[in-house]
Amino acid sequence: MDQQELKKAVGRAALEYVKPGEILGVGTGSTVDCFIDALKESGIDVPACVSSSVRSTQKLQAYGFKVLDLNEVEKIGVYVDGADEIDPHFAMIKGGGGALTREKIVAMVSERFVCIADESKKVDVLGKFPLPIEVIPMAVRAVSREIEKLGGKPVLRDFTTDNGNKILDVHGWQITDAEQWEQKLNQIVGVVTVGLFAKRGADVLLLGTSQGVKTFK
Ligand code: 5RP
Repeated sequence: MDQQELKKAVGRAALEYVKPGEILGVGTGSTVDCFIDALKESGIDVPACVSSSVRSTQKLQAYGFKVLDLNEVEKIGVYVDGADEIDPHFAMIKGGGGALTREKIVAMVSERFVCIADESKKVDVLGKFPLPIEVIPMAVRAVSREIEKLGGKPVLRDFTTDNGNKILDVHGWQITDAEQWEQKLNQIVGVVTVGLFAKRGADVLLLGTSQGVKTFK
């Protein structure tokens, strides 16, 4: 199976976690796109979704799903999203698609985070994938200097987030203590969100492999 087929397989597998009649949290990315396609095909009764990006909102609405603002919702049972890397403790690097801030917010209010990923995303140590950090535009240089002091090599992405901010992709870190690192980077003034999802990691990992979809809990 090629990578796209693995993404489709995990997208379908995630349907098992969708509870009919419940508001669903929907992440962002090419794997989530496969999940949205599968959701549409499944015909499961989803009264409404809360989405983590304009991209996913548009796709959901094009399929006829209702999308609510998070401020209209008290709780979300299940949140389905992808990852750029996931470690054995279910800590993740996210934000390759630039939606990390809204993803972290929706994940925070969700009872269960179901991560869907192909096998290339499972790693022993986070950091080969550059860590995305969303930054207030006027603070790009200032935050970059702080990151350099911590041994990281920030590269400004040619991209503006749905929130009007910039993204620094930080190379050169091997992240073993993800929760501490997330907390430390969050302290830098000008940082909006760090693409490390450790404090609120995944609860379930559905991993697409050539031997089929494997479930880790
Ligand atoms: C977007 C994300 C995505 O979940 C992550 O980039 C994985 O994307 P893909 O499924 O396309 O590999 O965090 O901000």
